[in-house]
Amino acid sequence: MYKEHIRVGLLGLGTVGCGTVEIIQKNREEFLKKTGSTIQITKALVRNLNQPRLVKTEGIQLTTNPQSVLEDPDIDIIVEVMGGIGLAKEYIIKALENGKYVVTANKDLLAQHGESLFEIAKAHKRSIFYEASVGGGIPLIRPFKHCLAANRIKSLMGIINGTTNYILTQMSVAEKEFSEALAEAQAKGFAEQDPSSDLEGRDTAYKLAILSSLAFNSKVDVSQIYTESITEISSRDIMYAKELGFVIKLLAVGEETEHGLSLRVHPTLVPIGHPLASVNNEFNALYLTGDAVGEVMFYGRGAGSLPTGSAIVSDIIDVVRNINNQVENSSMETTFPRKSMVCNEERVSRFYVRMKANDQSGVFGSVAMAFGEEQISLDMILQKRRDFNVAEIVLVTHDVNEAQFYKALAKIQSLVSIRNLSNVIRVLERG
Ligand SMILES: NC(=O)c1ccc[n+]([C@@H]2O[C@H](COP(=O)([O-])OP(=O)(O)OC[C@H]3O[C@@H](n4cnc5c(N)ncnc54)[C@H](OP(=O)(O)O)[C@@H]3O)[C@@H](O)[C@H]2O)c1
Repeated sequence: MYKEHIRVGLLGLGTVGCGTVEIIQKNREEFLKKTGSTIQITKALVRNLNQPRLVKTEGIQLTTNPQSVLEDPDIDIIVEVMGGIGLAKEYIIKALENGKYVVTANKDLLAQHGESLFEIAKAHKRSIFYEASVGGGIPLIRPFKHCLAANRIKSLMGIINGTTNYILTQMSVAEKEFSEALAEAQAKGFAEQDPSSDLEGRDTAYKLAILSSLAFNSKVDVSQIYTESITEISSRDIMYAKELGFVIKLLAVGEETEHGLSLRVHPTLVPIGHPLASVNNEFNALYLTGDAVGEVMFYGRGAGSLPTGSAIVSDIIDVVRNINNQVENSSMETTFPRKSMVCNEERVSRFYVRMKANDQSGVFGSVAMAFGEEQISLDMILQKRRDFNVAEIVLVTHDVNEAQFYKALAKIQSLVSIRNLSNVIRVLERG
């Protein structure tokens, strides 16, 4: 029994909301063929009714009154694309209580409150769809739920924040300084005016929490994700990385080990030949290994009005099919247990270290000895004169237990010949 007309209420009509409207207006006939129903956006909640919109809004009633959207009995689907936590959460709960299906792009909200929202959805026999929350237009949520469901996912690794990837690419390819690359990202609309969530890795951690929950069938607490920012990366690190055969990327990494889940977000030296090394500018990619399928990589535009709108509208189409097939709740998230996490000290990594030292004989020997005392062997070494009497030492370790590594580093920092420790960055194994 097909429902002839499906009505959608938008919460928000900004970048993603306008992309959603544009796609629905443009491909209306296509959706009728695909679902047997017409899809119509009837209302949109906004903050400011006088704000010019980037799409035609005829037939859409703009309102500043959330109740008029959430309590409209003719609306079947609520699409939350307003962002933020408090009000977005309140409105989604209200929508579910009123029997609406929910589609959202809100990774901040899902990473922090997804658990309770999925429970509420289940209690009201409704689903929350969130393909747009990670990777913009790249299909990631549905592949984990459906196409890769036969696999035990061993690991995933991704570049899932366009802002930081744009900055690091520009620093590497165009040899720009961090501040210049950031200003350019803001001017091009890739970075927000307050870019702290992107730069400090929080945005990536929210997305990793959502992905790893599906990949590893576990509830994931975002506060347990080890997160580092990219703000300490300098053009010298980019230069030395290149010389050693790497590019620097902000990676989200998830692994299931015999001791538990290891989830982390940090800048990483990626070998130039690795598939993720050539993911540049605002593009995103996710590289994963499943026990049956082997290696798989997803690549595309991780943000933007139409790519993110594409994911939102695909979710709307799924909801329409659910409505027409009388599927009330198709979510799986509520059944996940909470798996244990591996603590930092137990992890094994390779490290890049850059330090300034007195340019005198025996300095390098004492650094090597401090590493040797902790059974840490070195893979690559560069030593360059920086200024008068100051040398820069850059080295890359082999795999080392992180606790041992930081013990050796503390010893090195206390050496009188070491002027300062400029940077420490993890290094990805050359596959
Ligand atoms: N932009 C992307 O590429 C992208 C990609 C993936 C996910 N997302 C997520 O999608 C969501 C929306 O992002 P966006 O970039 O589209 O944001 P945006 O351009 O800032 O648009 C937000 C919209 O929500 C409305 N709004 C905000 N707070 C409101 C409130 N309290 N009451 C009523 N209306 C309110 C705004 O109204 P006014 O227009 O009247 O101010 C605006 O129309 C966020 O959760 C974001 O993380 C965005």
